[in-house]
Amino acid sequence: MEDKKLIFSGIQPTGTFTLGNYIGAVRNWKPLQDEYNCIYCVVDMHAITVRQDPIKLRQNTLNSYALLMACGIDVEKSILFIQSHVKTHAELSWILGCNTQFGELSRMTQFKDKSQRHADDVNSGLFTYPVLMAADILAYNADLVPVGVDQKQHLELARNIAQRFNQRYGDFFTLPEPYIAEIGAKVMSLQDPTKKMSKSDDNPNAVILILDDKDTIIRKFKRAVTDSEAEVCYRDGKDGINNLMTIYSSVTGKNFAEIESEFSGKGYGDFKLAVGEAVADHLEPIRTEFARLSADKAYLKKCYTEGAEKAIRYSQRIVSKVYRKVGFVDKT
Ligand code: TRP
Repeated sequence: MEDKKLIFSGIQPTGTFTLGNYIGAVRNWKPLQDEYNCIYCVVDMHAITVRQDPIKLRQNTLNSYALLMACGIDVEKSILFIQSHVKTHAELSWILGCNTQFGELSRMTQFKDKSQRHADDVNSGLFTYPVLMAADILAYNADLVPVGVDQKQHLELARNIAQRFNQRYGDFFTLPEPYIAEIGAKVMSLQDPTKKMSKSDDNPNAVILILDDKDTIIRKFKRAVTDSEAEVCYRDGKDGINNLMTIYSSVTGKNFAEIESEFSGKGYGDFKLAVGEAVADHLEPIRTEFARLSADKAYLKKCYTEGAEKAIRYSQRIVSKVYRKVGFVDKT
C-alpha cells in the first residue's frame, strides 16, 4: 500500500443502512479513499452480541457488503471485507482483553444501554464488545477511525488499551484518532427529531432506509414532524426543520442560507416534498448499483474473498509481532 495514513472503520451488518448511517458515516468513506489507505469491514462478529437469526445475519452481511460497494467503496482502492473471515481480529481481541480492566468495560454507556434493552441476554460478548472493536483497529495499526459520536467512548477505550499495551510491552501500537466529519454528522428521527434516526425505531415513518423506493421516501418526508410555525429557517428549538435542512443540505450541497432563501415565502409542504425528491434522486444510483451487484453473486464472492486475503496478510504481520511481544512461543 502507498505511504498514506491508514483509516479503519467497521459497520454493523444491518442489511440496509438508514439515511443516518449513510450521511453520518458511509457516505464519507468514499472520498476518504483518495486521501488515505482505507480498510472497511462488515462486523458480523459484533452483530452476534445480540441475538440474531442465522439466515438473516448471513443475508444482511452480504447485503451490507454489496451496499458498501454500491455506495462507492472501491475494492481496488480499499480493503473491504467481512470481519469473521479474518481470524486475527479474534486472536488479538483475546490478548487485548487481558489488558483491559473489568471496571473500564463496566463504564461503557453502550453496554449499560444494551444490557438494559436485552436484560435477558447480558452475555460476555456484549461486555467485551469494545475489546473486539479495539482489536479491529489495532490489528492494522490504524491512524484514523471515522466514527459517530456514539462510538467515541469505545475509540477512547481502544486508545487506552493500546497505550497500556505499549507501556507493558514497549512501544508498538499506533494510538488511533477519531475522524469525525463536519457536516450532517447526525440525522434525527423524522417522527421525533430530538432522537437519533435508528433502524430499530418502532415507527417505520421515522426512518429512511437507503434502499427505500422514491414513493416511500417522499411519503415519509411528507409526514415528518415539524413545528407549528411556517418559516423554513435553522433556529434553536425547530428540531424538525433543522433536521430536514441538514439532510437537504447534505444531499444537495446547498448551505443553510441558500436553503432559507430558496424556500422563503413557501410552506413546509413544499419544503418537505423538495427534501424527499432530493433524497430519492440522490439515492437512486445506489439502489440501481446495489441491485446489479446483488444479482452477480460470483463477483461479490470474489470481492469479499480477496478482501479477506488482503486483510489477513496485513493484520497477520502485526498480530504475529504482538504474539512475540507477550511471550508466546514461535510456531515456525
Ligand atoms: N461499533 C461500531 C458501531 O456499532 C462498529 C465497529 C466495529 C467499528 N468495529 C469497529 C467502528 C472499528 C470503527 C472501528 O458502529
